[in-house]
Amino acid sequence: MAPTRNDILALVQEDRVHRDLYLSEELFRLEQRHFFANTWNFVGHASQVPNPGDYVAVEIAGQPLLMVRQPDASIRVLNNRCAHKGMPLATDACGSTGKFFRCPYHAWTYKLDGSPLAIPIKNGYEGTRLKECASGQGMGALANVEVYRDFVFAKVNEGGPDFRSYFGDVLGAIDNLVDRSPTGKLKVEGGILRNVIHCNWKMYLENINDTVHPQSAHESATAAANILWQGKPVDEPKPMAMEQILPFGAGYDFFDRMGGRVYPNGHSMLGVNFSIHSGYAQVPEYEAALVAAHGAERTAEILQRSPQNSVCFPSLSVKSSPQAIRVIRPLAAERTLIEAWSFRAEGAPDVLFERSMTYNRLVFSPMSVVAHDDVHLFESIQEGLKAGRNEWISLHRDFDPAELEGGTREVNGTSELLMRNQFRAWAQYMTADMA
Ligand code: FES
Ligand SMILES: [Fe+2]
Repeated sequence: MAPTRNDILALVQEDRVHRDLYLSEELFRLEQRHFFANTWNFVGHASQVPNPGDYVAVEIAGQPLLMVRQPDASIRVLNNRCAHKGMPLATDACGSTGKFFRCPYHAWTYKLDGSPLAIPIKNGYEGTRLKECASGQGMGALANVEVYRDFVFAKVNEGGPDFRSYFGDVLGAIDNLVDRSPTGKLKVEGGILRNVIHCNWKMYLENINDTVHPQSAHESATAAANILWQGKPVDEPKPMAMEQILPFGAGYDFFDRMGGRVYPNGHSMLGVNFSIHSGYAQVPEYEAALVAAHGAERTAEILQRSPQNSVCFPSLSVKSSPQAIRVIRPLAAERTLIEAWSFRAEGAPDVLFERSMTYNRLVFSPMSVVAHDDVHLFESIQEGLKAGRNEWISLHRDFDPAELEGGTREVNGTSELLMRNQFRAWAQYMTADMA
């Protein structure tokens, strides 16, 4: 029998969550239908589809979709399904369809907005019900799509919160990333690093806010960097990779003092006060370009803000410096695709883009010196959780009953409130349309 609303709510307690959230395929199927369909998820970036007819194929809530640039320069998100018998209109991950979509099966065609264009030997449909059926209406477009500063989001289900009320103040993380471009324009560049990890998507997302693990889990990487760097004068400029790896070993106190903030609906910002990115070398030429665009005061404000991770729950994590995002794409209960994207800021010197690429390669890519620690842990935990006598994952650190009121709240950087906040939002949206 399928779990009821109450069964699901019982899996998320105030200070712990049940292991089924990571292990159960049945729960994953329900997540696709309820949780992911009811939340706003990241689709792609406008710079991926510069010209009319350009598309990117994605899957959200288990549904195949296409982000398509329109002739009027707007962006639509269409069902990637021929209205005839279900063939996807695009089978490549991205590309250009030209002026229209043409199904490879029986050659039905569609305009770029998904509406029907032509059907071969169409007199066979005269007098039939085709026009009144969904099969005669074209591919169908999602009604809930928002392009926020070139970041495209969609919600599959109708109803529920609109884009602004869903994300609220966490949109400041995207603002800070975009404002770091002197022209206000970013471009996805250098390829997207993809890593399929055999773990539940929530474990990855939870780890993004886990500041207690680097000291132990990433000890070998930081120890090696420390050995290489020891004895250098304090003012010696660090090579980029050294600058990026050394702070991982900064210690519990550093991570605690960086501070965290939770927002309604599972969103968060880690590193409210400072972060492992705050000590990156200044680039005078870049700062001059920003000052020319925004003025000195605004430039200082933009650069001073350098959070570790801002989570736009449940699919996007933003690092405004070093201009990188991670996209979380769930595939199954125990399989998640993680994408690491680099951005080039228009009008900024190459070194900024190099910083973004270097960070992704060093820390997030499958061959990185950091991610392999995490991947090993995540995949092992999926097995460890199957042990008997304890079906719960602890989230007790710094629990405070007052936090149950919800809302925006600031805490120390090692608090597990940022994780509890995600699971509470999960329970809320998972059950939003359940009887
Ligand atoms: S399935 Fe597309 S034209 Fe038949
Ligand atoms: Fe890690």
